[in-house]
Amino acid sequence: MNIALIGYGKMGHEIEQIAFSRGHKIISIIDVNNIADFDSPEFKSADVAIEFSTPDSAIENYRKCFAANVPVVAGTTGWLDHMDEVKKACAEGGQTFFYASNYSLGVNIFFAMNKYLARMMNNYPDYSVRMEETHHIHKLDAPSGTAITLAEGIIENIDRKESWNLETENSPKDIAIHCIREGEIPGIHEIIYESEVDTISIKHDSKNRKGLALGAVIAAEFAKGKKGFLTMNDMLNF
Ligand SMILES: NC(=O)c1ccc[n+]([C@@H]2O[C@H](COP(=O)([O-])OP(=O)(O)OC[C@H]3O[C@@H](n4cnc5c(N)ncnc54)[C@H](O)[C@@H]3O)[C@@H](O)[C@H]2O)c1
Repeated sequence: MNIALIGYGKMGHEIEQIAFSRGHKIISIIDVNNIADFDSPEFKSADVAIEFSTPDSAIENYRKCFAANVPVVAGTTGWLDHMDEVKKACAEGGQTFFYASNYSLGVNIFFAMNKYLARMMNNYPDYSVRMEETHHIHKLDAPSGTAITLAEGIIENIDRKESWNLETENSPKDIAIHCIREGEIPGIHEIIYESEVDTISIKHDSKNRKGLALGAVIAAEFAKGKKGFLTMNDMLNF
């Protein structure tokens, strides 16, 4: 497969290695200093673009991919205000867009565990629920996209919860998310249920970025030849 990389930072470099190891070619690499390459024949001929850039630049990059009819595997977080525009480009403009707030298999298993536990806890209102997420100090968005997906999984399944909130539990209907930025930590997420008598918690701790990069390349292989808006649920069938 011919892959274009958009954003050549920590994830872009990791994805390049995994893509090579799976026999793919990287035919275009676009970062902040060569944005004009979106108009290059190499970029336009890519089977798929894998995009891990910054929250502020992501939507403009997606628009450029759509203009070139190049399918997108999107990893950047913190741009979700524009989700309606992206879904419209897929539904009405025939584009292909794969989005996951987290591409690692382990985290997607954790997402499924989170929903299962939340369904059980729906019947036990004596338990409060809160979340802690810890990432490296370079991360630009808070809470993480992964934390938002986890919060959505809880809200879908616990009737007494309607929204998430940073830090403090403003109302009993909120899930409080505490964000810590520390050192070079790739990502830790913990969901904590607490009653007067005990604490139940589930935790995912990424050891490095390899699982994320592998998941993004497998998503690119999955997206090739497909149309529409795709997610990990389409790929993993959990
Ligand atoms: N979905 C997931 O599984 C997942 C996993 C890890 C990181 N992320 C997200 O991916 C994004 C990138 O993460 P990272 O750790 O590689 O960050 P990074 O800071 O190491 O790399 C970002 C790169 O984007 C480049 N960039 C800036 N503006 C650009 C533009 N207009 N066009 C193209 N490139 C541009 C930067 O120069 C840099 O090289 C972040 O939003 C992060 O939260 C998502």
